[in-house]
Amino acid sequence: MHKPMPETGAAREDILRDLEAFKARDPSYKEWRLWSLVYYLDEQHSTFLKDAYHLFSSENGLNPGVFKSLKKLESEIISATADILHGTEEVCGVVTSGGTESCLMAVKTYRDMARDKRRVRKPEMIIPETAHVAWFKASEYFNVKIRLVPLKDDFTPDLKKLRRMINRNTVMILASAPEYPHGTIDPVQEIGEIAQAKSIPLHVDACVGGFILPFMAMNGEPIPPWDYRVPGVTSISADVHKYGYAAKGASTITYRNLDYLRYQMFVYENWPGGIFASSALLGTRPGGGYSAAWATLQSFGKDGYRKLAADTLEAVNRLKEGVSAIEGLEVMGSPQGPLFSYRSTDPELNIYAVGDQMDARGWQVNRNQHPPGLHAMVTAQHLAVVDDYLADLRAAVDVVRADPELAKQGGAATYGMLAHVPLRGMVKKKVLEMYSEQYRAGGGELNLAASSEEGVTGGSPGLLDRIVAWYVDRQSKRG
Ligand SMILES: Cc1ncc(COP(=O)(O)O)c(C=O)c1O
Repeated sequence: MHKPMPETGAAREDILRDLEAFKARDPSYKEWRLWSLVYYLDEQHSTFLKDAYHLFSSENGLNPGVFKSLKKLESEIISATADILHGTEEVCGVVTSGGTESCLMAVKTYRDMARDKRRVRKPEMIIPETAHVAWFKASEYFNVKIRLVPLKDDFTPDLKKLRRMINRNTVMILASAPEYPHGTIDPVQEIGEIAQAKSIPLHVDACVGGFILPFMAMNGEPIPPWDYRVPGVTSISADVHKYGYAAKGASTITYRNLDYLRYQMFVYENWPGGIFASSALLGTRPGGGYSAAWATLQSFGKDGYRKLAADTLEAVNRLKEGVSAIEGLEVMGSPQGPLFSYRSTDPELNIYAVGDQMDARGWQVNRNQHPPGLHAMVTAQHLAVVDDYLADLRAAVDVVRADPELAKQGGAATYGMLAHVPLRGMVKKKVLEMYSEQYRAGGGELNLAASSEEGVTGGSPGLLDRIVAWYVDRQSKRG
């Protein structure tokens, strides 16, 4: 049911108190027990971001000619990004609202470019199985067919198969640095050679890595080149609101030169409201996102980010070592960046039941599927909780070993069951139905944990439980 708009306004102190109360029911990220949704450093940095955001919270980046301040901020964010990505002066780009917008824009750009230059009418893109869901979203939105490259045992895409997928309809190839599910940096140099030989654009999705891998490399980490140093790379997405520690709502999409970027632009010259031009998906573009992103880059500089990268790497290495030392667990692949996943090597040890035990100890652990695993997106401040996490993980593994029935309960049962539902199309249809329900007017209160994108594959099992209940019921009716 709709909750009506109040007839009269309430006192501002009361409203702010209400907001604080809503917030109090959310997961507490300030103890660094949450992974991937929030990149929180400390109160000082958060206050600084708020101040910077607030200064431009009314300004609108829609028309770069009006708020020249915002265009300056955007240009400087793009220049700083091009600098750390080893771009030349030709590199250009746009600040977007987030990683998803940046990825969507790359697909639109390359689709339109192939249509214009090569008359491609049935566009296809080649992406590894580990590509972020944003790419699957882009495929649906922009009608670009996906050719999905299977993985080798080390979680990198099978390049022989990738090469065979190229045809005259291919508009782009994707590599990730790193990919979200296991943290593997795709072999960008090799993919770059293939792309260049066939004159196909190569986008690197560095939404996660863009603001940390360069600083790990500056600190001496042997990270193979994956940015504009690789000749075949034509564009890169890099999120300031992840490892740049900006406020939410700031990513970048850069291109090797304007010949690519111009296909991202939208112009409509016959609108009664005037001639309209737009550089990315949004119309009104929130000025606060720019100012907070610009401020965070100025505040840390390369030195600051190198220190954050060093702390993150120490945390991630200690976590990986600690996980590997637990009998029955292994890190998946060879992740080099700030995140990793791990799985069970022991059929008696159900990894989702371990996840449930971690949740019970106050952690918010994301789940992987195909293969089942647990995920950790590590930030600099997780260094403070490495020992607690590993102690809880050891205890969780002991509890699950001592009680195999746990694999049939809670989230473990849900995830186990979902993996075995044979008709994926049916699962999709049901998720769609239940997910949409949460957006019914007045709905969704305190159910929001299951309404995030992450919630479909990880995080809260609320939505998933309901899907499993529906499936079990359906099976039992069918006898
Ligand atoms: C590799 C990768 N690309 C794109 C995205 C999408 O970013 P956003 O959630 O900011 O839209 C993510 C998010 O985690 C990601 O990991």
